[in-house]
Amino acid sequence: MADDATYPVEPHTKIERSHMSVELHFNNQRRDAAPGVSLFDFAESLGINVPTSCRKQGKCKECVVEVTEGMDCLSARVPAEKHLKGGFRLSCSCCVVKDAGVVRCHTMRRGEMRIERGALHLPGGNQKLKLEPAVTRDGDRILLDGEEIARSTGPIHGLAMDLGTTTVVLRLLNLETGEVIADASFENPQRFGGSDVMSRIHYDTEEGGHLLQRTLAGYLTHAIEEFPVDPKTIYEMVVAGNSTMRDMFFRLNVYSIGQSPYRSITELEMADGHRPTTSLAEPAKKLLLPLHPKARVYGLPIISGHVGADAAACMLAVDLANEERLIAIMDIGTNTELILGDKNKIFAASCPAGPAFEGGKISCGMPGLPGAIEKIKIADDGSIQVGVIGDVPAEGICGSGLMDLLGELLRTNQINHLGRFEHGEDKIVLDVKSDSPVYFTESDINELAQAKGANVAGLHVIFHDYGIRFENLEVFYLAGGFGRHLNVESSKRIGLIPNIDDSKILQVGNASIEGACIALLSRTKRNELENLVKKVVHCRLEAHPDFFNYFVEGCQFNPVESSHARQSVS
Ligand code: FES
Repeated sequence: MADDATYPVEPHTKIERSHMSVELHFNNQRRDAAPGVSLFDFAESLGINVPTSCRKQGKCKECVVEVTEGMDCLSARVPAEKHLKGGFRLSCSCCVVKDAGVVRCHTMRRGEMRIERGALHLPGGNQKLKLEPAVTRDGDRILLDGEEIARSTGPIHGLAMDLGTTTVVLRLLNLETGEVIADASFENPQRFGGSDVMSRIHYDTEEGGHLLQRTLAGYLTHAIEEFPVDPKTIYEMVVAGNSTMRDMFFRLNVYSIGQSPYRSITELEMADGHRPTTSLAEPAKKLLLPLHPKARVYGLPIISGHVGADAAACMLAVDLANEERLIAIMDIGTNTELILGDKNKIFAASCPAGPAFEGGKISCGMPGLPGAIEKIKIADDGSIQVGVIGDVPAEGICGSGLMDLLGELLRTNQINHLGRFEHGEDKIVLDVKSDSPVYFTESDINELAQAKGANVAGLHVIFHDYGIRFENLEVFYLAGGFGRHLNVESSKRIGLIPNIDDSKILQVGNASIEGACIALLSRTKRNELENLVKKVVHCRLEAHPDFFNYFVEGCQFNPVESSHARQSVS
């Protein structure tokens, strides 16, 4: 079949032709593939949609797949793939060249996120919000900040985005009613540039050409075009995300965020008096988005350093500007954000947890998308029951599943407090039904222990510096898609969150997208946030003398208790 193949395989690539075939596993679907088949064509034959804008011409760079096994069965890299390293390939540009072996690969995952419609326990939930978006109507005139940008009697839409290192969440709103029209999510396709912010900064600086931004814009375009509205009726977009993701999306130089003292270029410019705020605004067109030609993209302000616009959005979501109680927000992710305080005094910190909580660097890890094991119970007879998102065959395990699993292994004494298996094996298999069994190893536990250690250290430092103990808190918000689905009991047992009264812990879902929606619907709230971020004290963990001790302690699987707090320093 390869005789008339159109994929750009290098001319000297030797394709071994025979009647034999390679066992190819694509997104956990298995089929035999004969030499000459491109991974893109193979995916199409299985009904798998690979993102593309160039129809297999090697130009759009969107068809990236990750090959986890059997790279030696595939053709050599072509020039169009020179930006890709490790197991990442352009699926249109590589084909099977051997007639025996096993290849495993998957697309950057796309899926429907379980979005919590409306606020759950958020005092700043948008049900109470007075609608006053920046985009308004005067007859058939559509106005942005009072300036006419279009003429239409059709609907006025806005888009909110939570741009995470691992997962991207979009929410489409009707700006005249505040109604949620649709939402979407997908794995951040920039993963080929590394799984954490530091690798992405390095990649973006080395490669140039805004390749990561262009790839993301391609994915966003597909997602936006799939919404049930004309993209040209979207007149404004609000972006929340950590400092690196946000700045990269706005095509800014992110080099300074990767170097001590870890500052966004917007912070540096503000300190020099060249800009009044760290928030950003650009035409959608410049960011390669298919919205209305005069649409604006507004990036929420960042707090400081790696404490970014996602943390700022969380503050808006819980209405911290008007909060009398002492609250904490913990948004666990590749970078865990911590906010502590009330309306008068607010501290913030960012913990470099790495990608393990979102499934990165874990043997069978994946984001919380369909196919991910999210719940685990170990029965008395030792059998393992798993709950899978989307009721489809298990493909991997996501963060909340990993925490559940650690909690269950600890409860049933299968691991000790140092994270070592007690049964002498180095892994356990969780799901034997699928073609590619999902398993969990001791080195996975190690990755998670280190990610947890960074979070625990962050908790100790911020509470210590603020001058309070965990039990002084009135509300502990566990934010983020990951935090929403955590089992609180397991999380306290393994020492992921402080060991405080359950009644104080509120799992509020993706507060960052909630905050972005609030900013999209209310100019007053947007301005309130612009002022609030300037009041926040940034705790720099790396500068704290006890950080390393807290980290080492936090790597163990024990409940987290206050032990080092001192009296109030306010
Ligand atoms: S489909 Fe466009 S680069 Fe592969």
